[in-house]
Formats: sequence, C-alpha cells, structure tokens
Amino acid sequence: MTGMARTAHRYRTLATQIAATIRAGALRGGHRLPSVRHLSRERGISVTTTLAAYRELEASGLVEARARSGYFVCRNHAEAPVPRAPRLNPRAPVARLSVSPGIEALMVSMRDSTVLPLGAATIDAALLPARSLNRLMATLARESAAAGATYGPPQGVATLRQQLANRSLTWGTAIPADGFVVTVGAMEALNLALRAVTRPGDLIALESPTYFGVLQVAEGLGLRVIEIPCASGDGLDLDHLAQVLRAQPVRACVASPNFHNPTGSCMSNESKERLVRLLARHDLPLVEDDLYGDLAFDGTRPSCAQAFDRHGRVLLCGSVSKTLAPGYRVGWVAAGRYQARVEQLKFSHTIANATLPQMAVAEFLSTGRYDRHLRSLRATFAVQVQRMREAVTACFPEGTRISQPQGAFFLWIELPPALDTMALQQAALRARIAVAPGPLFSASGRFGNFLRLSCGLPWSARVSAGIARLGELIDAQLARARPRRR
Ligand SMILES: Cc1ncc(COP(=O)(O)O)c(C=O)c1O
Repeated sequence: MTGMARTAHRYRTLATQIAATIRAGALRGGHRLPSVRHLSRERGISVTTTLAAYRELEASGLVEARARSGYFVCRNHAEAPVPRAPRLNPRAPVARLSVSPGIEALMVSMRDSTVLPLGAATIDAALLPARSLNRLMATLARESAAAGATYGPPQGVATLRQQLANRSLTWGTAIPADGFVVTVGAMEALNLALRAVTRPGDLIALESPTYFGVLQVAEGLGLRVIEIPCASGDGLDLDHLAQVLRAQPVRACVASPNFHNPTGSCMSNESKERLVRLLARHDLPLVEDDLYGDLAFDGTRPSCAQAFDRHGRVLLCGSVSKTLAPGYRVGWVAAGRYQARVEQLKFSHTIANATLPQMAVAEFLSTGRYDRHLRSLRATFAVQVQRMREAVTACFPEGTRISQPQGAFFLWIELPPALDTMALQQAALRARIAVAPGPLFSASGRFGNFLRLSCGLPWSARVSAGIARLGELIDAQLARARPRRR
C-alpha cells in the first residue's frame, strides 16, 4: 500500500467505525464527537486523518460541523429502514420443515471461480492469515512426526482447549479446558449439540430467519421446528418465544445472539439474560451459535448468552471458520451439563478431529497475533459492509430495506413484495453472480422477497459492477411483475 492509500484506508476505517456506532444508536443526534486533537491522540493517527474522517461523515450527512464548537451527530440523518421481522402466530401448528433447493445452487456457485461470490458467507482468502497458519503447521508437522500417525484425543488437542479456555474470558464467561469438545467446524458442533439434547421427532424453536445450516441439521436429525421472529436490532422476539413455550412442547432452542446470520442483529446483555432465564424456567437447553462474536466493528466483544447460564443448560458452539481458516475445520462446543454426552457423540461421529490443524490454531492463538489479526479483519469488514450498503442503497429500487449490522460481514435486504428472490438467484447465476435468497433462511419458505449479500470480498470494481447488475435484474423482474398484477 502506498502512503496515500494507507492514509485513505485509515480515515475511511475511522469514518466507518463512527458511522456504525451512530447507526447503532450508541451516539444520538446532538451528541458532540471528541475533538479532532483528542481523537487523533487516542487513536495514534494524524490530525489530518481524523479531520478527513469527520469530513467524510459530514459529507454523508451523519455529522455536522458547528463553528468553534466541533463536530456533532446530526439529528435526522437519512437512512434506509431496516428489514422487518415476520409476523408469526405462536399458536399456529408447526409447519413441515422445508430445506430450500436454493442451497444447492449456492453450493454449485461456490465451486465456480468465475461466479462473483456474494451468496455464501465466505471471506476472501487474502484477508485470512493462511500463510502464517500453513507455516506453523509445516513446522509442527516436522517437529511432531507422530501427530498424523496416531488418533488425536477425541475431546481435542489439549493445547487448543487451553487456548479456547483463555479466549472464553473475552466472551464474558470462563470455560475450563475440559469444558470443550473440538469439532469439525461449527457445523459438527451444532449437530452434536442438537443430538445431545433431542430425539428424532422432537420440536425445537429457532430464529426466523435462521442460518440454513441449522435447518439442514434439524432435517438430518428428524426434528420438527417452530420459528420465532428475529428482528434486525435486538434479535429473537422473547415475548413471542415465551408464548410459544407455553403453547408447544418445545425440547430445545437454537439461537445466535451475536451478529446473527443473516439479520446481523446483536442481542443486548439484558435480552441474553432474559433468554437464558426464560429457557431455564422451562428446563430447556439453548444451543448457542457464537460464530461471529469476535467480529464486532467497534472492537467490543459482546458476551455470549452462556455467560448468563448458572445451570449448564447452554451448549456454546463456535469455530475459527469466519476469523482464521475455514479449511482447517476447527470448531468447538462447550456443552455444560451435556458435556459427557457430547464427548460420546463426538467419538461415535468422527472419532477425533485432524490433529495438526488443531495444533496450528492453538499455536496461533497463543501469541498476540490473533488479536492483531482480528483488529484488522474487523476494520476491513466494517468498511466492506459500509461500501456494500451504500452501493445497495444507490442501485436497488425504492422501498428496499437494508440491515445495519454492527459486526460480521453480510447484509440482510428486504425488497419490494413483488420480488421473488429464488427466481432472482437463477437470473443472477446466469449473470455469474451468486446471491443467497431469503427462503433459504426459513423452515417454511418465508422471506420470498429477501436476500442476503455477503461482504467477505474486498470492495472492488468487480463487486461494484455486480451490485449494479443485481439492481438491473431486480428492476427487470419488477417490470415483468407489474403488468401481471394489473
Ligand atoms: C451461523 C453459522 N453457524 C455455523 C456455520 C458453519 O460454520 P463452520 O464452517 O465452522 O462449520 C456457519 C457458516 O456459514 C454460520 O453462518
């Protein structure tokens, strides 16, 4: 990066972080921002860089300069509204679980490098420390020749579990090394956790929308599901969940309180505590998917719901797939009172994870490198999400609603009701663009006019052109739909 490019990157990053904080409602209209000098000192950046960030925020209508007083958050900054949560009847009979055929199209597009990958939640390889990890693994392979010649411990390599125990202090909790089982990504963690607490035919409550992998796991285990609305701001609708728990024989709940996929919502600590207490009153386990918790744009790691659990009813699942290395397939579950059962299931499912990737991840976590890497990844995602948001606002039709995530790297977009995003997925694929249509994220095919876009790629002319092309495809579909409705 040249000096100029570095400065531009720095001020954009700062502007994006402040914009994200304002949009999250953490800085209200009329709030005075820190003085340029103060912020420069605090951030260790030049006054020119800070000033450039404030000017960019001013140009985007988020802050205003007042003569001799400094910069203030504008009272009425214009914003695209956020998508709405579905209305659901807590007393309605449970729908048949449908896993969308759109997932297959998504998988096909993942294998084709000529397709612009805005569908799957994948990250550009250049943003991940693949080289460092591979070097670490090569060294470890030389030094520990036996690593591949024997099975590793079914519970996972001890050094990795110790590192996870250390990291758990940053999640607002303190899980001992023995409290973890290492899994093949978060996907196996979800699978084992749900198997540990349910039997085929049981009913589980999950967010609507939800990560489609959870639906696939539920289908594989023969579970029935009931959907609970999940809104862009504070996530799961707890009043609705409370009504469902009174009306239906739910056996477990699955939720992703931190930077939920796809809405990006992040529950407050109060809501997490309420969720855990509500489930405890019904003696129900919570399978918590905390895959994106380390990716808060402002660097403040939200606590996981497990931090509020006093009775071991939360099974906390995670992995390094969205921060370090999806190809290493290193995940974990900390299963509380269900730990022994999960250990048995892990042994019968895959015996143990591959040893060397676990050792390399443990080594990486044991240095300060992980935190340094996270700082830069979070700042990059904040910029990419913001750029994508701006492009969608500019290119998509009136009436579009866009999520305002404060972490992770995707946007959840509500389009005009006439739009069919399953058809859009096919049209976009023909134009070599992959998108994830809304019905993928629902057990009952809801969200027909919703779309998830991944912002895992660095912003580029190709991505920008892709969003513009999607806007055209949407317009064309809407134009075709209009005469039919007359
Ligand atoms: C919310 C959520 N949970 C779990 C997974 C699966 O993670 P892994 O790749 O670690 O198996 C994903 C992948 O995108 C996800 O978004």
